Amino acid sequence: MRADNVILVGFMGAGKSSVGRLLARRLGRCFVETDDLITAREGRAIPEIFRTHGEARFRELEAEALEALREKSGEVVATGGGLPCREGRMQTLRALGTVVWLRGDLGELVARARRAGARPMLAERTAAEVEALYRAREPYYRAAHLSVDTTGLGPDQVVARVLAALRDAHAARALR
Ligand code: S3P
Repeated sequence: MRADNVILVGFMGAGKSSVGRLLARRLGRCFVETDDLITAREGRAIPEIFRTHGEARFRELEAEALEALREKSGEVVATGGGLPCREGRMQTLRALGTVVWLRGDLGELVARARRAGARPMLAERTAAEVEALYRAREPYYRAAHLSVDTTGLGPDQVVARVLAALRDAHAARALR
């Protein structure tokens, strides 16, 4: 039996945090972010973890955060943009609930992520390198149960679409 979480995945700037928070409120569920689990455990911000320990260490911490998610049920979870993009991670996430990919126009996602700042994976990367990173990640995101196109939409509109997609999926399951 699936743990019934709703798990948001997608590239940086997709709105996983803002949409996740609103969605949790709409559903009356708790909200958790894997990035917050990591910063709380380490007692330092993500850019600092990258700076002092490197990306490889951060990815290990993500694996630990993923393990911690096994304790959760009925929650809304926002994952870091790189968390699902390792062998086996999407299978684990899919076993923990309904995985929703917030996709969108890459230019829009990156502009939003750069505006918000503090994204070590975007620092010192050219547009072509960021696109290559996105292309490498897309097959992982594509393994989500559901996908919602966020292009040109604000968080409230995305939440409405996610709720509709969840309802449709639920209705389809009930018919089986
Ligand atoms: C990362 C995305 C970030 C954060 C870290 C690494 C990535 O989360 O986990 O900076 O590799 O894409 P957001 O997707 O919330 O920006």
